[in-house]
Amino acid sequence: MKKVVIPVAGLGTRFLPATKAIPKEMITLVDQPLIQYVVQEAVNAGFTDIILVTHSSKQAIENHFDHHFELETTLALKKKTALIEKLRDIIPDNINIISVRQPEPLGLGHAVLCAAPVIGGEDFSVILPDVILNTGSNDLKQMVSAFINTKQSQIMVEKVPMEEVDKYGIADCHGKTLNPAESLPMKGIVEKPAPEMAPSNLSVTGRYVLDNRILTLLKTTPKGAGNEIQLTDAIAELIKEKGVQAYCLEGKSYDCGDKLGYLKATVEFAVNHPELGAEFSSWLQEFKQ
Ligand code: G1P
Repeated sequence: MKKVVIPVAGLGTRFLPATKAIPKEMITLVDQPLIQYVVQEAVNAGFTDIILVTHSSKQAIENHFDHHFELETTLALKKKTALIEKLRDIIPDNINIISVRQPEPLGLGHAVLCAAPVIGGEDFSVILPDVILNTGSNDLKQMVSAFINTKQSQIMVEKVPMEEVDKYGIADCHGKTLNPAESLPMKGIVEKPAPEMAPSNLSVTGRYVLDNRILTLLKTTPKGAGNEIQLTDAIAELIKEKGVQAYCLEGKSYDCGDKLGYLKATVEFAVNHPELGAEFSSWLQEFKQ
């Protein structure tokens, strides 16, 4: 599996005013923009074609993954080789960054459909860039292996408090709970149910490994929750046709589209940072006292 779709057209209203003039995906987590973490996660999981579904206000994201000739030439003249290496490390040479536009904000399902001409007939993955997984997470790679072994689409889930189920897609695994890194067949899935209607508290956590059939289903998926074309609704159809499994996140997830989630991620990534971690951790101990 080579292709991964990353929808980045959303306007980031939950993070205003920070996101008024810069894309939410370009907000810095410790020392690199959020989008760089998810692209690295995709590269680590073996993906080579990264399809950004984007918007005219988000060109900074494409620029981040492009060469910056003037900057590299200036650094080369000053013999700043370490900095040049840092720039080159942003994206390995064998990775393709491809962008397509989502002309209207019609929902996640619509965003994925905008990438259909680039995806072609292949199975593919989707990463929602608001969700950042902890450093060293191998979950996406494990989902791809589970997909290859079972031939069933894999949807990442984790437990959330019952009163928060109306913020997420919620999976029904025949009433079972999953162990970390385990996949189980799903009976159904529903987008943002009211707590009293929710089949479980297993929330969809922004990572999908999908059978190509989903694209055909999305073409006829009607508008659903929030009056948007929901990926969740097409997955509900795919469950009936081919079967779909929920994969339980082994690592930790942070909702970095939310201010509190972003702050928590900042602390974890700072504590684990190879250069800053030790000093930051000891400062954090003092700060807590
Ligand atoms: C989207 C999905 C939802 C999923 C969530 C994870 O919702 O539609 O199923 O649980 O991402 O972050 P959004 O956050 O875009 O409203």
